[in-house]
Amino acid sequence: MKESVLTMSGVTKVFSTEEMETHALRGIDLTIYRGDFVSICGPSGCGKSTLLSILGLLDMPSSGQYQIEGEEVSQLTLAQSAYIRNEKVGFIFQSFNLIDELTVYDNVALPLRYRKEPMSEKQIKQAVEACLAKVDMSHRASHKPNQLSGGQQQRIAIARALVGKPSMLLVDEPTGNLDSINGDAVMAMLQQLNAEGTTLCMVTHDPRYADMATRQLHLLDGKIIDSEEHSDPKHAFEIPLAQ
Ligand SMILES: Nc1ncnc2c1ncn2[C@@H]1O[C@H](COP(=O)(O)OP(=O)(O)OP(=O)(O)O)[C@@H](O)[C@H]1O
Ligand SMILES: [Mg+2]
Repeated sequence: MKESVLTMSGVTKVFSTEEMETHALRGIDLTIYRGDFVSICGPSGCGKSTLLSILGLLDMPSSGQYQIEGEEVSQLTLAQSAYIRNEKVGFIFQSFNLIDELTVYDNVALPLRYRKEPMSEKQIKQAVEACLAKVDMSHRASHKPNQLSGGQQQRIAIARALVGKPSMLLVDEPTGNLDSINGDAVMAMLQQLNAEGTTLCMVTHDPRYADMATRQLHLLDGKIIDSEEHSDPKHAFEIPLAQ
């Protein structure tokens, strides 16, 4: 039987300002299973980033239920959600969100330094080196992010997302700041990670990249209007990575 990583039912999100209420999500029912690669598409403003923020516990739903690995997480305190987020979720954003003052090594190590159960420097080093090798960036460990190309920075962000062995990776427009060659390389890497068992949920505007997912969700006005399964998703182009 397929094992679910997360389940949402009836999730809504309302943003209230003095002038208006925005119903960003209007009742989302969604289950993501271990090993899934889910893509989320839809027009600007339809609620994709809001959904990803709630999936990753960066924001709380206004109503509805949300469980991660069977645990109800829709009503946690900030401290509880920060703990579960650090243990179970890896994020990859369009704008990389690396810290320019830290080396590549320290950027990737950062999530491990905020663990509830402290890790030794030796354990951290092993984990960081393994993830840098996975994204072919071992040779840049002591660089600063602003000394790297966009594609290389996104690969460091992937290493940082993976280092804590999360239950799922949440990815928002990972190729939005990249040219097509680096975008294709990042997508090939994400698809490879999924082939090795990583559960992925990715927002993208690019239909070519949405086609690489095993399940495609279409969002409109805060609702899932369509969900298609793909048993034979399109494969990433095999291209050499820029060193
Ligand atoms: N913090 C906020 N306060 C008020 N309204 C918000 C907030 N965040 C998002 N919204 C509104 O909620 C709706 C959904 O926004 P969201 O960012 O999820 O869209 P999106 O699908 O990710 O769009 P895009 O493709 O442009 O990134 C929009 O109407 C947006 O203006
Ligand atoms: Mg968005």
